[in-house]
Amino acid sequence: MGRADLFSGCPRTYRRCEMQINGRQTRTIWPAADGSGDIEILDQTRLPHVVEVARLSSLQEAASAIQVMQVRGAPLVGATAAYGVCLALRDDPSDRGLDGAIQTLLSTRPTAVNLAWALARMEEAVRSLPPSRRYDAAWRRAAEICDEDVETCRHIGQHGLQLIRHVVPRRADGVVKVLTHCNAGWLATVDLGTALAPIYLAQEAGLDVHVWVDETRPRNQGASLTAFELGEQGVSHAIIADNAGGHLMQHDEVDLCLVGSDRTTRQGDVANKIGTYLKALSAADNDVPFYVALPSSTIDWSLNDGVREIPIEERGPEEVTQISGRTAAGDVISVGIAPAASPALNIAFDVTPARLVTALITERGVCAASEAGLLSLFPERQAR
Ligand code: MRU
Repeated sequence: MGRADLFSGCPRTYRRCEMQINGRQTRTIWPAADGSGDIEILDQTRLPHVVEVARLSSLQEAASAIQVMQVRGAPLVGATAAYGVCLALRDDPSDRGLDGAIQTLLSTRPTAVNLAWALARMEEAVRSLPPSRRYDAAWRRAAEICDEDVETCRHIGQHGLQLIRHVVPRRADGVVKVLTHCNAGWLATVDLGTALAPIYLAQEAGLDVHVWVDETRPRNQGASLTAFELGEQGVSHAIIADNAGGHLMQHDEVDLCLVGSDRTTRQGDVANKIGTYLKALSAADNDVPFYVALPSSTIDWSLNDGVREIPIEERGPEEVTQISGRTAAGDVISVGIAPAASPALNIAFDVTPARLVTALITERGVCAASEAGLLSLFPERQAR
């Protein structure tokens, strides 16, 4: 496979699709249309050069898709893990099968807490059932997780849109300039996105938005994924080198920063793609509002101090020393960019302390990045 017209598009089992490729609505993950019980995903390791669908037919394939980042982004990692449980239960619905699936999927990536959140919801749906009823229940719960993710993103978008509206009067030409890091758009979720949802809703509302897209080394999620999806949706944008944001902020070229999160603590510290912290420092130095958009599934209510407590993923050094791209002849290849003998360190996430975050945008509204702020929106999380 390798062409967008091979998509099954927006499957009928889903209530609604928002985003498009080649003008065609799609999601990032969906049940295969042939009724086999397999799952299909948009293979994000191939974007932006090739739009290709990959099929997941087993627990191991689902785990591998998360690990090698065919799917990535905190909410989508959770959704894929949910379907990974379905695939595992198809083969072995026993307690042993369920325990093995949860352990395998939990070990794929350490930072995004949505993974553990989704697996806990899957377990809650099936654990107490006899094995013969687990598979169907798992499918229902996985579909619920996906549909809820889309609704959640739309609410985040609506709340974030108000923040974009607020800065329109700053600009004589009415063009609001937003800086974003990594990819927290529809490709990072089931549909619509977290940090990019306000931008898509602003576009829908007729506002002019221009997005500065951090390239996001080493895996370039900004240059390859955010730029791709903004382009497909017709949103004005430009890719910038990761180090350019500070300069743009000093020259009043950024009205607000809008990023996603992989894990947010009870106190409002935010883990996100490596480099986010440096953008928050620049934003603070230049009085640029720094907003973090996240679904509540990204909040780890058990943690307080993000810098000390959030597990940070370290990935292979080759992601730093090699880069992949398309040649003039159209081949996608990987090339080395460093001396072959030089070691490299690849830390995938960093933590932005709450004091550098202007506000958090959640599905329930906008709040201060603090325990009090989060509890004002999620009072049920008050410690008993
Ligand atoms: O390593 P990735 O690509 O999974 O990292 C993703 C990010 O850091 C995103 O910005 C974050 O998950 C928010 S996704 C809505």
